[in-house]
Amino acid sequence: MQDKSHLNPLTQPSKHRKSDEQLPTIQPFNPQSHRQKRSSKCLVYVLLLVVLLSIAFLVLGLVVLRIKTPTLRLSLVAIRDLQYDAASLNTTVVAEIRLHNMNFGRFEFRSGNATLLYDKATIGAATIYDGRIESREKKGMNVTVKVTASNYELSKNYMNISRDINQGLVKLRSCAKLRGEVRAMKIINRQRTAVMNCTMALNLTSKLLQDLSCL
Ligand SMILES: *[C@@H]1O[C@H](CO)[C@@H](O)[C@H](O)[C@H]1NC(C)=O
Ligand SMILES: *[C@@H]1O[C@H](CO)[C@@H](O)[C@H](O)[C@H]1NC(C)=O
Ligand SMILES: *[C@@H]1O[C@H](CO)[C@@H](O)[C@H](O)[C@H]1NC(C)=O
Ligand SMILES: *[C@@H]1O[C@H](CO)[C@@H](O)[C@H](O)[C@H]1NC(C)=O
Ligand SMILES: *[C@@H]1O[C@H](CO)[C@@H](O)[C@H](O)[C@H]1NC(C)=O
Ligand SMILES: *[C@@H]1O[C@H](CO)[C@@H](O)[C@H](O)[C@H]1NC(C)=O
Repeated sequence: MQDKSHLNPLTQPSKHRKSDEQLPTIQPFNPQSHRQKRSSKCLVYVLLLVVLLSIAFLVLGLVVLRIKTPTLRLSLVAIRDLQYDAASLNTTVVAEIRLHNMNFGRFEFRSGNATLLYDKATIGAATIYDGRIESREKKGMNVTVKVTASNYELSKNYMNISRDINQGLVKLRSCAKLRGEVRAMKIINRQRTAVMNCTMALNLTSKLLQDLSCL
């Protein structure tokens, strides 16, 4: 006992005092195991905190900091002033383009062009002005595209619109690119390009765009 209390001065004397003097009836009281219990409880709390912090960082990493590319879609398309003959077609397309930023951070984009193509030839273009879209928001932008397609121009690229006009259905493609940066939490700054690539068909009988489909 003397040796032990000497070797372990912190725990042994208290054991003596408590079990012998203060609490004589309660036999198996052991402050050392009590202390062990407390320290193991403490360890459980620390581990729990570590696990909770890990989950919090995982959620932050997976949800908040994972930068997704904003999407660009064509939502409404109207046709105005449609005129056509056997070899040419003129019209004005009014389109609403919807930009959707699903990130937890705003997207700042530079100006770009929305183009309308017949096969590989650009038959109309409009400018989308630069701007920004806040975190997890959608933004609609109206663009007006003047379209002139004639065999005179198209034949330079070995294309011919006469067959489509004759069938009453002109197949078109609309493309746009908006380059910019997604800025999240003031520390993240990623280059992203929202891309629009849609196909549609202009029905000359109904004067409406149909079969709109975006990639
Ligand atoms: C389309 O516009 C061009 C140039 O503005 C014109 O030369 C052509 O005749 C027009 N075509 C039709 C079918 O109106
Ligand atoms: C948009 O088109 C204009 C004229 O056609 C061109 O000068 C400009 O470089 C284009 N912008 C982009 C971002 O492609
Ligand atoms: C675009 O135009 C349509 C029809 O004119 C209108 O209802 C819509 O609010 C416009 N959108 C924007 C963003 O200006
Ligand atoms: C386009 O095709 C039509 C019939 O398919 C033909 O009559 C016309 O000459 C062609 N035009 C050009 C510029 O190739
Ligand atoms: C649009 O999609 C088509 C088909 O997947 C592809 O061939 C074309 O290159 C795309 N255009 C742009 C501008 O991404
Ligand atoms: C074009 O529109 C008319 C009238 O809505 C419809 O009857 C016809 O089937 C359409 N053409 C095509 C190729 O879908």
